[in-house]
Amino acid sequence: FTSTVRKVLVRLRGSYSLVFMCKFEPDKIICSKKDNPLIVGLGQGENYIASDIPAILSYTRKTYIMNDGEIAIVMKDNVWVTDLEGKPISKKVFEVNWDAEAAEKGGFEHFMLKEIYEQPKAIKDTMSCRITKDGKHVHFEELNWTPEDVKSIGKILITACGTAYHAGLLAKYFIEKLARIPVEVDIASEYRYRDPLTDSKTLCIVISQSGETIDTLAALKEAKRRGARSLAVTNVVGSSISREADQVAYTWAGPEIAVASTKAYTTQLVTLLLLSLYMGRLNGNLPVDREEKILADLTKLPDQCQAIFDQVDFIKGLCSAFKDKEDVFFIGRSMDYGLAMEGALKLKEISYIHAESYAGGELKHGTLSLIEAGVPVIALATQLEVEEKMISNIKEVKARDAYVVGVVQDGDTEVGKTVDDLIKVPASDDFVVPILAIIPLQLLAYYIAVSRGNDVDKPRNLAKSVTVE
Ligand code: AGP
Repeated sequence: FTSTVRKVLVRLRGSYSLVFMCKFEPDKIICSKKDNPLIVGLGQGENYIASDIPAILSYTRKTYIMNDGEIAIVMKDNVWVTDLEGKPISKKVFEVNWDAEAAEKGGFEHFMLKEIYEQPKAIKDTMSCRITKDGKHVHFEELNWTPEDVKSIGKILITACGTAYHAGLLAKYFIEKLARIPVEVDIASEYRYRDPLTDSKTLCIVISQSGETIDTLAALKEAKRRGARSLAVTNVVGSSISREADQVAYTWAGPEIAVASTKAYTTQLVTLLLLSLYMGRLNGNLPVDREEKILADLTKLPDQCQAIFDQVDFIKGLCSAFKDKEDVFFIGRSMDYGLAMEGALKLKEISYIHAESYAGGELKHGTLSLIEAGVPVIALATQLEVEEKMISNIKEVKARDAYVVGVVQDGDTEVGKTVDDLIKVPASDDFVVPILAIIPLQLLAYYIAVSRGNDVDKPRNLAKSVTVE
């Protein structure tokens, strides 16, 4: 059985995680992988094979994380790992330190809702280990960069998929404004095929909750092949991406089970904002008082989430205006444009309502023709720098009788005069406020999906980890 499996594996092409069984040796299971995730859970008198840690969390915390080119022969009392030629490999046991409750709904109707409410803790866990005790500076012990390390970066390439890509879009604003380093952001599946200008002066940042997205992993390998230094921002310790990248900055969100990403996204934003501050200080482009001010606002963020949770009944009440619509538009400028993209993705993936995001200034270049009486438009207007321009865009859609819900910083007096309904998020620095402002959009998407009777945690056609190209 084992030698047949070896013979088969050397002839296989593509990416896979495979489990083999043989009717003549029923007490043995053999597994192997290439580019896709595979773990072996080590129990007492029982062992497990899975693609992801949450699947086995309630049985064991001891795992082998399988690498490409390895074969695990799994029996009830024993696990042997060898290479493709049968040479034994001595594997290190990886102990998972997540709470077992993390893989349970804990009284919430869905994982997604639980994970939305876990954001204050996830944000706190992600930032507190990276801010000095006096709250004035950022430090990334795991990176330990020198000023020269940062000054030698010619360009930053951010590549990711889906929600993680949206976090990357906001990171472009963070890094360019705070550290003054040019940033390009690319969808991972596009980056690989465009003959990119990546070289040894490029720092490639890949963002991935799961650390297993195949396109992101492939983009990372491509950037490395072209000579780039690499940094992974990921949530899963020991994931393929964390092992492939030169360095890792973990988001400490805890396991995210729902397909729709929520707490992973906000912790990615926190990590990327901290990273921008870190780079800005190291390369001398960020004034000390600016760093202190942003950090002061960032540390208030976990408590400020409550102010949004307090509006949950109001947000639920908005659902009836969306529930039976076919199209919803999200508009925003500057960082709110990135936020609009994430808001639209959240809504479409779980409610199945068509949702589009547009930069406010782009409306009149075509999209405005789609706006007619009653079409819902979510207008994100949290960025004070562009508020006036955003108000003009709101007036453009109001003039066509759209139904407009504004999202603003608390205390704003202008936007409220032009919209039909208003969601207020606690006032904060312009860099921090998008992290708060996504939460009402997550809640809105969630309650709309629930009101349509959808399977929120497992939306149709989607998977949590996308390990196929
Ligand atoms: C988010 O709600 C999505 N389900 C999806 O876009 C996801 O963010 C994307 O597949 C990337 O996943 P990753 O962060 O695990 O790489």
